[in-house]
Order: sequence, then structure tokens, then C-alpha cells
Amino acid sequence: MKGLSILKKNFLDTVRNDSTTLSLLGRGDGLELMKQTVMKDKMFVLFPGEGDHVVEFFYILTGEMEVDLSGEKIKLGPDDVFSAKNLEAAVHFYALTEVTILSFSNVSSFHYLSNEIMELRKIGELVEHKDRYTFKHSARVAEYAMKTAIKMNFEKKQISNLFIASILHDIGKINIPEEVLKKPAKLTDEEFALVKKHPGDGADMLRKTAYADLADIVEQHHERINGRGYPFGLKGDEILTEAKIIGVCDTFDAMTEDRAYRKAFSAEYAMAEIRELAGVQYDPEVVEAFWQVLKEEGKIQ
Ligand SMILES: [Fe+2]
Ligand SMILES: [Fe+2]
Repeated sequence: MKGLSILKKNFLDTVRNDSTTLSLLGRGDGLELMKQTVMKDKMFVLFPGEGDHVVEFFYILTGEMEVDLSGEKIKLGPDDVFSAKNLEAAVHFYALTEVTILSFSNVSSFHYLSNEIMELRKIGELVEHKDRYTFKHSARVAEYAMKTAIKMNFEKKQISNLFIASILHDIGKINIPEEVLKKPAKLTDEEFALVKKHPGDGADMLRKTAYADLADIVEQHHERINGRGYPFGLKGDEILTEAKIIGVCDTFDAMTEDRAYRKAFSAEYAMAEIRELAGVQYDPEVVEAFWQVLKEEGKIQ
């Protein structure tokens, strides 16, 4: 029949990683119909849109997932629908079982889940496995960074760029031996030299992708405004604000998790330390915005 197209148990394109499979079922006139499968215990993330005109609808076919909306946990299951328009921050859904979702959007969102980003995220996951006792460091840093950027009135495009850069900020650590990452004692000069290469290595990995414009953010996440950071020793305004935000959120998250050589510090303590260094190592405006975010979330007094 003219005008009719049938796709029997098939898809136009698919991307897969170890947490999700996303299949493009239909596309046309700027619209996309997709089916996504999220594995049990993995996250499904809704990213902020790129403008007022973007609308996305989601219909849960099978399985259950949970979303935490500032402390209130909401469970979603088959036949539940949710939609996003003008989303101000990324929303994380936790898959309680394997979940399949049908989604419909009036812009292409397939690119967020492009194979390139998927590959890099996989590297990120490997890094977290060899680097940390607690996982999801990068996901938490991304969440904090995004909320801080919203406080600082960043534009949507900048926010989603910052989100991806945060997720990938430590991928360069893939080149650091596990013994060095997990060493309980002070690093030797040679070992520290290896660690200092990770921002540049991560940036180089990104420069080979369509996301090359995020490379500088990753490269600068250990720069500090007094010029005592690495790899370049950039100062003040030479450092991208996005990189300064990741710097603060990364430090906070690292301090508040258990490490090989010490127990976690409390959120209060970590934030007090960071505020002490505002204007020295960290950008005062970033520290202030992040502090507000933590207060609003009830993580600190
Ligand atoms: Fe790092
Ligand atoms: Fe980090």
C-alpha cells in the first residue's frame, strides 16, 4: 500500500552497551520512535533537551524502574507514561528489573547514545572498576556538575556538554596501572607523573570523536586557579568554567568516598575544606553555587 511501511520485528539502527540497548524503530520529519532495553540495576538517564521545542514521551512496556525526585522515590511499571519538555536537569531512573521502554521524540536524541560515546563510557566503567571501591563516581560528579551549572545559569547546550564531559572526565586513567591507582601509600614522583597524564590522555581520546569540542574541559579538570594544578598549571580565567566545576565536584566526591588509604570524610567536612580553598584553588563562584546545591539537597547544613 502506498504510504505504508512495515518493519516486522526489526529496527533501523541499534546501539548497545552493557547497560542498555537502544533501537531506532522509525524516523521521519524530525521525529523518532525508539525502543530501549535497560538491564536490571542499571541507570536510564533522561538528558536536558536542547530547546523549548523538544518533547520526549516514554511508555514502559515491561519491567519496573524507580526515580528519586529530590528525596521522593517513585516507582514506574508497565503502561506508565512519562514525558520530558524543558527538563532542567538530567533525571536518573534506576532499573529494578530489566525494563523495556518505547519512546517518541520530536528531535533526534540517538546521537547522545552514539556508539562513540558508548565506547568511551565503557572505558569509563573499566576505569571505575580498577580505580575505586565505590562505583558511579563519574555519574555522581556529572549530577553535581550539572546542578551547579544550572545554579550558575548555564545554557542548556552547555549543561549537556558539561554532563557528557563529566561522565568521561577520568577515562584517561585507563592508562594508569591499577597498582598506582590503588596504592595505599604516597606516590613516587614517577607514579605521580603517570597520574598527571590522565586529563591529557582522556582529552586525546575525545579529540578522535565527534565530541572533540569537549576535550578541553576534560583536559583541564585538575587545573587549579592558583596555577598549582596539572597538566599545564593554568591560572584563573585560563581555565574553562566547565573544568572548574568538574574540579570542585570531583574533589568533593573523591573526599566523600572510601579510598584505599583512608575512610570517607563527611560531606560537611569535605565542603568546609573546599570552601577554605575557594579563591586559592577553586573558583569562588563555582564553590558558592555547589555549596547552595548541597544545602538544597540536604546533604549539608
Ligand atoms: Fe581526574
Ligand atoms: Fe574523578
